[in-house]
Amino acid sequence: MKILGIESSCDDTSVALIDITDNKLEILHEKTASQIEIHKKYGGVVPEIAGRMHAEKILPVIEEVMKDQDKPDVIAVTSGPGLITGLLVGVEAAKTLSLLWNVPLVGINHIEGHFHSVKINTKEKIEYPVIGLIASGGHSEIILSTKEGTYEKIGGTRDDAAGECFDKVAKLLGFDYPGGPKISKFAEEGIPNAIKFPRPMIDSKDFDFSFSGLKTAALYHLRDNPKADVNDFCASFEQAIVDLLVNKTLKAVKKYKPKTVILAGGVSANTKLRKTLEEEVSPYAKFLTPPIEYSMDNATMIAIAAYHHTKKGLFKKPNFTSWRDLKADPNWKIYNTHHESHIT
Ligand code: KG4
Ligand code: ZN
Repeated sequence: MKILGIESSCDDTSVALIDITDNKLEILHEKTASQIEIHKKYGGVVPEIAGRMHAEKILPVIEEVMKDQDKPDVIAVTSGPGLITGLLVGVEAAKTLSLLWNVPLVGINHIEGHFHSVKINTKEKIEYPVIGLIASGGHSEIILSTKEGTYEKIGGTRDDAAGECFDKVAKLLGFDYPGGPKISKFAEEGIPNAIKFPRPMIDSKDFDFSFSGLKTAALYHLRDNPKADVNDFCASFEQAIVDLLVNKTLKAVKKYKPKTVILAGGVSANTKLRKTLEEEVSPYAKFLTPPIEYSMDNATMIAIAAYHHTKKGLFKKPNFTSWRDLKADPNWKIYNTHHESHIT
């Protein structure tokens, strides 16, 4: 089955065409237009500019991906959560193509996309139940999935997302947006226990996170130690975030006894996090994380996540939405992924 995926929820205009069955995944063509160079100047993603850039790029990117290709069997588009200015562009493009080509349409939750990104470039299968840690610039959630297509949020951040915390502290250091990758680069040369940063809520019994206290501690440390070694600072800060994410995920693994642990979302590009979580959970479950280049937002993961919506398994019929009814929902929660109202 050929699925065209469209992703425009943040600062990447991404389109991918995949050919997928239960046993095979082939990425036929994919293209992403990144807006990072523009948003860099402002220290973060500016929604109005993002919307305008998506509108400029969406058609050329779709045209390039669909060049010399037959029309797909299904169109999948991120319809939430994310920046409304970006979501609207992708959703309108997808609706137009659905009408024009008479091809069924499915709205995909961005977090569900990240979750399924682990299917890229691997023969390993996701075995259920799954505990998923999805950590990105906008989300830090621990999700329990007992069967394909069902999601229960068992933990999440009470304030900033992990990626947001990386980016804000990177800004204090004068790094360009997005600063997460730069912090992890400097961290490679530093000593992770050089500075004793707090680990807020690490001993709480729930699976929630809080990163704002850590961010404030980082701010005060820089204020009081202007000559702090940047490598040690980055290594210690990164270690604190990794400890928080790994500790709570491991706690969830011990309680729910999943067969697979998934790490996905932009922050899963962090090598220290990947290695540490893999080491910690491997005695209990299979560990899956996407290739680093698919940790970041991409349309391939959106197309993959759409596949099970096309099957009858979970639903009485495929979970398609008429182009007339599909709406962007900037606050769509993954655990409400399958509103019956979405099924047409
Ligand atoms: O999933 P994503 O591409 O976009 C959102 O949906 O938010 O995630 C982007 C986030 C940014 O906050 C970025 O700083 C962070 O992922 N990130 C990293 C690394 N690479 C990307 N954080 C820590 N270490 C990295 N290597
Ligand atoms: Zn994302």
